[in-house]
Amino acid sequence: PQKIIIDTDPGQDDAVAILLALASPEELEVLGITAVAGNVPLELTAKNARIVCELADRPDIKVFAGCDRPLAHDLVTAEHVHGKTGLDGPDLPDPTMPLQEQHGVDFIIETLRAEPEGTVTLCPLGPLTNIATAFQRAPEIAARVKEIVLMGGAYFEVGNITPAAEFNIYVDPEAAELVFRSGVPITVLPLDATHKALVTPPRNEAFRALGTKVGVAVAEMTDFFERFDREKYGSDGAPLHDPCVTAYLLNRDLFSGRFINVEIETVSELTRGMTVADWWDVTDRAPNATFIRDIDADGFFTLLTERLGRL
Ligand code: BDR
Ligand code: CA
Repeated sequence: PQKIIIDTDPGQDDAVAILLALASPEELEVLGITAVAGNVPLELTAKNARIVCELADRPDIKVFAGCDRPLAHDLVTAEHVHGKTGLDGPDLPDPTMPLQEQHGVDFIIETLRAEPEGTVTLCPLGPLTNIATAFQRAPEIAARVKEIVLMGGAYFEVGNITPAAEFNIYVDPEAAELVFRSGVPITVLPLDATHKALVTPPRNEAFRALGTKVGVAVAEMTDFFERFDREKYGSDGAPLHDPCVTAYLLNRDLFSGRFINVEIETVSELTRGMTVADWWDVTDRAPNATFIRDIDADGFFTLLTERLGRL
């Protein structure tokens, strides 16, 4: 299996991304989960990551707490989407599995040094603070990363936290800039793709109809998460952003995009955190990321539902 580190700020959609990975041990080996401050503060994301592992009956997964604030700005959170706990919806027990003592950033550095070069994929599902901090502290590890597959950014779909920026990149644009300039092969799952992965009522019923603890919890998470998009935008259902990262690792054929240059705006007050994507190749800046624009949404939900049924 492909070795991965999931870097995350759960978040209901992060939770589903983690569950999909844990449901796919033949393809994905989760070396560890590093929590970062994002949707809610670090204390809660580190707790939620463990709640999700226990929901999947995997208390053996190592969960680490990483950075509690972005590199250069105050933390911006998203309780308006995810609720006070970050994982509002299902009634899940507090975790009993331990939080690892090691700092998440040290775990990332140590793992990349210990594993053979080019064998570990990083999967960031939140602000890029932990990954950027690891690259800052140990610059030589970047060359050892196989690839980064991340959820973040937007171009044609522009912003969901400001008119110009997507949440994960907006929260820590300095970290994003560092990661996008790291030279590591990057695949970006931006809003352009994830806004096509909508949990419509029949798709949510399919989760519930699994009849398992996991299926029902996922249905309750997306019920909660959904109310925001439904009430605010009258959309058909909530976009399931972060599981697109896991699904991409499982079946790249479900996705399409272009290898292009992507730069991060860090200066402008108005457009801070914007992912300036040279989709039309109008600059001579070198490509640094595969920017996904399309997803086979039916194929994605079929895969997701079938895999969740295995837990
Ligand atoms: C991203 O922001 C968070 O709220 C979600 O978990 C996802 O990672 C979408 O913009
Ligand atoms: Ca997230």
